[in-house]
Amino acid sequence: MFGVDIGGTGIKGAPVDLDRGELSDDRFKVPTPHPATPEAVVEGVHEVVTHFGHTGPLGVTFPGVVVDGTTRTAANVDKGWVGVDAGKLLGERLGQPVVVLNDADAAGVAEMTFGAGRGRGGVVLMLTLGTGIGSALFVDGRLVPNTELGHLELHGHDAEKRASVKAREDEDLSWEHWAHRLKKYLAHVEMLFSPSLFVIGGGVSRKSEKFLPYIDGISAEIVPAQLQNSAGIVGAAMAAAKL
Ligand code: BGC
Repeated sequence: MFGVDIGGTGIKGAPVDLDRGELSDDRFKVPTPHPATPEAVVEGVHEVVTHFGHTGPLGVTFPGVVVDGTTRTAANVDKGWVGVDAGKLLGERLGQPVVVLNDADAAGVAEMTFGAGRGRGGVVLMLTLGTGIGSALFVDGRLVPNTELGHLELHGHDAEKRASVKAREDEDLSWEHWAHRLKKYLAHVEMLFSPSLFVIGGGVSRKSEKFLPYIDGISAEIVPAQLQNSAGIVGAAMAAAKL
């Protein structure tokens, strides 16, 4: 099976071994075009897929709301994506059936199956911290798609503008200062959903020792994701397997 992850900085893809939940070859990445219009991004996905000579169904993640293959929001990509039948657009360009799903949902499904959320019942929330904040909500292992908790309002701001990795970098915040913001955000999400587990994903999950020690006062267990930057690709391939 094959998965592609469309992110704010790169379009990454690889074949996936779905028995193990691992990439079966090194991933290949092209930079996300700017502006990230549907046409330009579709060409990027095409380049990634043809690099591997892949044919057959594939899954593609998108950093926005996706309902039945149609992209409905575009917080960190070109607004031209709003209302596009992305599944159809990609399917026609690639000549293969394509399933499109939200990036955090894909990463969450992969973590719940192969990573930090494996075997966990109850309410589990995966949060991906990167250019934005993505969320994937699970109830007894079942996904509630497109939850968009990165856009909760926190102290009068869009939460992802305060607590994403991009916010830390743009504002040159110390790990401690950023962790303080993240803690406020987690407390707010916990107040609303009372999860028993938070899984923290995104590239920053590799550096969890730099910020998790500063996060206290949260009742839920907080763990870093295990699949790290392959989670989106694995989740996308899992969705393709159902086509
Ligand atoms: C988008 C979400 C996405 C997240 C991570 C947010 O800005 O609204 O759909 O999952 O960024 O890419």
